[in-house]
Amino acid sequence: MHSDLSRLIELDRERKRIAHIGAILGWDQETCMPPKAVDERSEQLALIESLAHEKSVRPEIGELLLRLGSTSANPSGDSSLDQIERAYLRVLRRAWDRDTKLPADLVAEFARAVSLGQAAWVEAKKNNDFPAFAPHLEKILGLIRRQAACLDPGKGAYDVLLDLYEPGSTEASVAAIFSRLRKDLVGILTKIRSRPQIDDSILHETVGEARQKAGSDWIMDLLDFDRGRGRLDISAHPFTTTLGVDDVRITTRYIPDYYPSSLFSTMHETGHALYELGIAPGPDFQGTELAEAASMAVHESQSRFWENMVGRGDAFWKRNFRHLAELVSPALDGVRREDFVRAINRVAPSFIRTEADEVTYGLHIILRFELESDLVSGRLAVPDLPAAWKVKARELLGLEVRDDVHGCLQDVHWSAGLFGYFPSYALGNLYAAQFATAMRKDLPDFDDRISAGDTASILGWLREKVHASGSTWLPSELIERVTGSALDPSHFVAYLEGKYSRIYGY
Ligand code: CO
Repeated sequence: MHSDLSRLIELDRERKRIAHIGAILGWDQETCMPPKAVDERSEQLALIESLAHEKSVRPEIGELLLRLGSTSANPSGDSSLDQIERAYLRVLRRAWDRDTKLPADLVAEFARAVSLGQAAWVEAKKNNDFPAFAPHLEKILGLIRRQAACLDPGKGAYDVLLDLYEPGSTEASVAAIFSRLRKDLVGILTKIRSRPQIDDSILHETVGEARQKAGSDWIMDLLDFDRGRGRLDISAHPFTTTLGVDDVRITTRYIPDYYPSSLFSTMHETGHALYELGIAPGPDFQGTELAEAASMAVHESQSRFWENMVGRGDAFWKRNFRHLAELVSPALDGVRREDFVRAINRVAPSFIRTEADEVTYGLHIILRFELESDLVSGRLAVPDLPAAWKVKARELLGLEVRDDVHGCLQDVHWSAGLFGYFPSYALGNLYAAQFATAMRKDLPDFDDRISAGDTASILGWLREKVHASGSTWLPSELIERVTGSALDPSHFVAYLEGKYSRIYGY
């Protein structure tokens, strides 16, 4: 390997290592830190973040990238390099541009604005007081637009933001996918609403924490989560975090009268963790920028594949229902497997995105995508957001939003400055379904394998096709390579149609 490239990898690994140390502090804060330690911890995190930033913007990285021929216009560098080396330069150039193009004063002002914005959002949500949050949102949007202009003055601000989470995507490309998806989701929802609703009260029996924990451990083992390379803990909101090449942590929470929450969030986070643990672009690139996920949406495809396409499927419970019933006994005593599977797949429009089912979830995201792109572009003024939300909720979900707590104040993302992130959630479902279609061609006995407890061959397929390459390919390249075509919502729609026409009998 070229010595400039080896040096670049060395510098890159150092910045990743510091980021992982920061992640350990963050993980600890969410899982076991005593509450009074919070002030000092935020100082520690700020210090680590500034060290990581220093390492990321070392001039030597920029010089090495240039020497290897990598520029913003030609990120992959010299054509004489290997394909994987060129992929590496592309992702590192991308990270370098992102980290160096923003002036320090803008970064600091943004950090302050989102810190104040989040505190204001918490209060506003508590008091259902959107006007108290509005000036913060205005401020954050102004800074977001300035950031986008620094990153790429030649592109629309929302395009620049989308590209941060889903490289290569644009407002037009996402809008084209979502307009098809919207029509189909509304169609499925209309058919479901014409049928008698499913009663899911059987899921609301009380199950103690120890038995829910045993359930989560069991799920992790069923899905082949290597405990030698990760662990499960408890936090207020479930998450996955990577602390190193061989250390991926997941969390869950135990709600006493709703054990499916921990069961399915453990499957979801295990899906994220399996992806992280499966990234292996080759020994030369372990622990580098190339060993990152292809995108947020591809990440979400892995969590949703295991949670919904495997974990909420009848095939999975054919094998596992009896054991679950023993674990949560007497909560499922006398309940038939078929009724359990129907209950965990109940579809009903609801106000809160995080509680949404597989069908309505995408509609929640489309609503946010349409509103946030309008906010960023200035087509929608901040004071008009609550009313615009209500109109869209009626159109998309058939719901009358009664207050902003159940509307535009429910999510943390905008107060945290995360504009452009929401689409990843819905795109994740589309990737998952399209990967699953390709997988069923290679493994036509997919359902039988799951009923037989053979999830290992499914994980093996995902590792080889999706996980291993990390960010070697743009998401659009990855989906083409794995499935032979561009991202297409019809796979997800067909999956939903097949599943819910059976469940609701339409
Ligand atoms: Co997720």
